[in-house]
Amino acid sequence: MKKILVIHGPNLQLLGSREPQVYGTLALKDINSQLKLLAAKNKVSLSIVQSNHEGEICDLIGSAKNKFAGILINPAAYTHTSVAVRDAIAGCGVPCVEVHLSNIYTREAFRQKSLISPVVKGTILGFGAKSYYLGLLALLDLL
Ligand code: DQA
Repeated sequence: MKKILVIHGPNLQLLGSREPQVYGTLALKDINSQLKLLAAKNKVSLSIVQSNHEGEICDLIGSAKNKFAGILINPAAYTHTSVAVRDAIAGCGVPCVEVHLSNIYTREAFRQKSLISPVVKGTILGFGAKSYYLGLLALLDLL
């Protein structure tokens, strides 16, 4: 069975209570449960990690080859700042799909640039929690 690595970046552990007008009211555990159901329906397994630490995210991405068929990532604030996460994705040899709950291109100027988008297969954003479900389906379609 194919395995997919799901990475939730910084502050996403707060989903549900964090700026619900922007990110919705679903908690991270609810999104993860839905992702697991979708994965089971599609006969793949998920390993899901949330991390607030840039280096840990780089370590996860860098060791994904030969363990995971693909990576689904919401890099959160590191989207806009992290050359390190970008380089990890560019060099990891595993196809990645980037997702965001919000449409970053309609928000503050500092969010309107993703360092990650140029090195992923594709990006899905603006659909709330559904961005994750659509992102997983898009990733599976690639594999
Ligand atoms: C986010 C958008 C980022 O700008 C922000 O820093 C996040 C969440 C999203 O899913 O909409 O933490 O990645």
